[in-house]
Amino acid sequence: MKLFFAPLQGYTDHTYRSIHNEVAGGIDAYFSPFVRCDNGKIRNKDLNDIAPENNSSINLVPQVIATGVDELAPLLDAVEQAGYRRVDLNLGCPFPLQTGRGRGAAALANPDKVENMMQLLQQHSSLKASVKMRLGFTSTDEGLKTIVILNNFDLQHITIHPRLGVQQYKGQPNLEAFARLKEASHHPIVYNGDITSTDDINRIASLFPDLDAIMIGRGLLARPTLAREWREGREYSNAERLATSVEMHRRLYEYACRTLQGDQQVLARMQAFWEYQKPLVDKKVYKRLMKTTSLRNYEEAVRSL
Ligand SMILES: Cc1cc2nc3c(=O)[nH]c(=O)nc-3n(C[C@H](O)[C@H](O)[C@H](O)COP(=O)(O)O)c2cc1C
Repeated sequence: MKLFFAPLQGYTDHTYRSIHNEVAGGIDAYFSPFVRCDNGKIRNKDLNDIAPENNSSINLVPQVIATGVDELAPLLDAVEQAGYRRVDLNLGCPFPLQTGRGRGAAALANPDKVENMMQLLQQHSSLKASVKMRLGFTSTDEGLKTIVILNNFDLQHITIHPRLGVQQYKGQPNLEAFARLKEASHHPIVYNGDITSTDDINRIASLFPDLDAIMIGRGLLARPTLAREWREGREYSNAERLATSVEMHRRLYEYACRTLQGDQQVLARMQAFWEYQKPLVDKKVYKRLMKTTSLRNYEEAVRSL
């Protein structure tokens, strides 16, 4: 079973991905947070994040999100020009800032838009495409219709997160609906959602033995060693997990201090690093890490880990 690191805007930037790969590892492919247009122009920050020189040590699949073909066209050109042979199309983002513009999961309610975007993707013959989607935007019928459309196109795989867009992250993943979409699809399927332990990986792999891969997001932010633990077939102790996180932190912090301006920016970046790792860190130290407003206090808190 292949393991993919899910894209997480604000968390899995190129520095995090490369450092995760060097220190923790166990991942077959990393997916970039979506690259998007702002006022008709691709964001430079996003292009910098997928620049090959910033991702040379990892297997990266750049992801794009678009309101429709007008935005998708320049995004595909940019990915192609950067030298990539792979692209992932986001049809799953549930956040109102994106869905309100018809991007992400909202596109699942618009079959014509999906069809047009797929046709444009097929015209970029040097790019092998994959799609990341949910069960639907407001109903699972939308997901099923989307799968039927996608069956007419050449795709590397489809990643399915088994919730509706309107649910955002509420409720449990709907594995029955996931199985129905998987059965209806002619493409290899990747499972994504709520994997937090090696037992979870084994459970999904035995429920769906013909999956192409399992994609993990928040579970890896919380436990960067998760993929490696699964590959080694043993659970790490808390001390081993913490040692990996501290080493990842050392490298990320060094980079943040070198490239970001001002204490607040550095602290915001590092607090995002610790945010999901609450169970790993002593309660009092966690509070200090997250509450401090000075780098001096922050460094002291890190030393006490
Ligand atoms: C803060 C945050 C940012 C995310 N950014 C992206 C993104 O840029 N592209 C995307 O396809 N999914 C994004 N996702 C969704 C995740 O990739 C993933 O599908 C979701 O978290 C469910 O998987 P998990 O339970 O393993 O985390 C984001 C999720 C969160 C919580």
